[in-house]
Amino acid sequence: MKGIVLAGGSGTRLNPITVGVSKQLLPVYDKPMIYYPMSVLMLAGIQDILIISTPRDLPGFRRLFGDGSSLGLSISYAEQASPRGIAEAFLIGGDHVGTDSVALVLGDNIFHGPGFARLLQRNARALHGCVLFGYEVTDPHRYGIGEVDELGRLISLEEKPKRPRSNRAVTGLYFYDNDVLDIARDIRPSPRGELEITDVNRVYLERGAARMVDLGRGFAWLDTGTHDALLTAGQYIQTLEHRQGVRIACLEEVALRMGYIDREACWELGQGIGNTRYGQYVRQMAAPRALLRAID
Ligand code: G1P
Repeated sequence: MKGIVLAGGSGTRLNPITVGVSKQLLPVYDKPMIYYPMSVLMLAGIQDILIISTPRDLPGFRRLFGDGSSLGLSISYAEQASPRGIAEAFLIGGDHVGTDSVALVLGDNIFHGPGFARLLQRNARALHGCVLFGYEVTDPHRYGIGEVDELGRLISLEEKPKRPRSNRAVTGLYFYDNDVLDIARDIRPSPRGELEITDVNRVYLERGAARMVDLGRGFAWLDTGTHDALLTAGQYIQTLEHRQGVRIACLEEVALRMGYIDREACWELGQGIGNTRYGQYVRQMAAPRALLRAID
């Protein structure tokens, strides 16, 4: 399975912060926002990742990740010249996906919860059609909203409905089989001029090939779209990291635990980060005596 992180957009809702900096490079407590969605793809078992962003912001992502090899990844980059919709990722990333299946994650979506790696890997393996990840929210009119039957099959889908049929938001993480490339090529821009991911998902729904997996109440799916939401997300991460002494979405640790790099390479990454708590943590993880808890 290939991975795509869509980190485009102008982030105007966070102005003036995003006038000079990409939204997805802003800090969420101790790391750039894009680390969180990157960790999701890595935990799913994906090592071949395309980052799509604006011509203005791509250099920042390149500086951050390079070719990805230090994390045991292969990272490539592509431009989305203007915000023409989430589904355009499959037109831009067609060559990257090739004949494979693909996981798309939005660069500003933060997920955290127990058993996430297992859930991701299970759904990546058993993929037929598409898998969406649903999360119950109190403000469903702000999102894509899905309804499922008792077998987890998607039975309805609406984009930002005024009168939502359920509280189950469609989060910004999507698994697709290779048909998505043809489907994305065939859809037309919506009234707001974008290629809507919901229109892609609707084709799978009509084929009876869309499932939505519920992220239960023990999960956090955090918003970063406003100044308050961004701060709250950072505080959530800070609270858990301080309390438990673990780091969430520490890519160096994820790479080590997933077997993408060895302890020596992890140590080097920690040295490169230098004398911050984050750097110390990475070096601790690399130490031979560190017990590597399996990722669940
Ligand atoms: C997009 C999708 C929406 C989904 C949301 C998740 O909305 O269109 O279906 O629920 O991402 O973050 P947007 O952020 O473009 O408004």
